[in-house]
Amino acid sequence: MDFRKKTVRDIEVAGKTVLVRVDYNVPVKDGVIKEDMRISASIPTLEYLIEQGAAKIILISHLGRPDGKVVPEMSLAPTAERLAELMPGKTVRFVKETVGDEVKNAVSELPQGGILVLENLRFSPQEEENSDSFADEIIAATGAEIFVQDGFAVIHRAHTSTEAIAKKIPAVAGFLVEKEVSSLENAMKNPARPLLVIIGGAKVEDKQPLIDKFLPIADRIAVGGKIAADGYRSYDEKIYVADEFETDEQGAKLDISLRCAEDIIAMVNQARTVVWNGTLGMVEDERFAKASLAVARAIGSQENCFSIVGGGDTTGFVESLKEENLKFGLVSTGGGASLELLSGKTLPGLEVLQDR
Ligand code: 3PG
Repeated sequence: MDFRKKTVRDIEVAGKTVLVRVDYNVPVKDGVIKEDMRISASIPTLEYLIEQGAAKIILISHLGRPDGKVVPEMSLAPTAERLAELMPGKTVRFVKETVGDEVKNAVSELPQGGILVLENLRFSPQEEENSDSFADEIIAATGAEIFVQDGFAVIHRAHTSTEAIAKKIPAVAGFLVEKEVSSLENAMKNPARPLLVIIGGAKVEDKQPLIDKFLPIADRIAVGGKIAADGYRSYDEKIYVADEFETDEQGAKLDISLRCAEDIIAMVNQARTVVWNGTLGMVEDERFAKASLAVARAIGSQENCFSIVGGGDTTGFVESLKEENLKFGLVSTGGGASLELLSGKTLPGLEVLQDR
């Protein structure tokens, strides 16, 4: 798969201090991480940097939307702990600042190949301002010589840690960004056919650009979820819209019927590429997760088919089926980012990286 940006493979990292933008914006409740897909997805790049002899690895991220204030519940400390558990034998430390002497000291105490996670960048209002001076301060405190963008889920933002900083030092992509962008772009430009796009979820305004973008590209588009329940109308013969629903006691349409799920499964069984964005029902309630479950099982057991699952609810849903050993080509870590990429928007955090 072609990738038009330079990656960590294209730059000499041995002996260098490498700043890696990850997206550790994971659900945390009472200090406990509920789901760590984004943390585990960052590990291949980190392991590669260690293997290649990077001197120090500094991780920067945001968590939540603290709006420029220190919100202790949104600290990245639990993510550093989880990363340490996921990388046994490696040094993983945390420092509760993003700039200044405390960061400098923590960096200087880090052993060769050690990883240091800085505090939530959005505790500073400058992060979302795409600030040159904040970028300078982060670089000065960490001594970063190379920037690696591996926070796929945040590359649709033009923030200090996604854009401003990447203009200051050589900036390349990590493996997660490479994998996500190339898989998604490939599905649009050069998919194995037939290409089936399954759209669900609740907000038609989010999904319509995706349907419009895929209409000339896809062989079939299947629409389910609340969008279909709310009366979405097909305007092209390629577009199938679910028309039968499971309801609750009050008559609310909360899942597409199993007959409609079967229709979609028949399309899945023909497809060589499937892009799935948006659950087909209200999967939080297992009574209304049946169609999504049946479709997930059909996609995940298809042999000759590359599948891409995107959108927060959908990826969370397929992650919850881990024990079923279903196989998906890509479970995207980026909700908004994958939606923007698939809708044809420019991603500032990607464009700023060095071209191949
Ligand atoms: C996400 O969860 O979509 C990313 O981490 C970006 O977060 P944001 O929408 O708060 O910028």
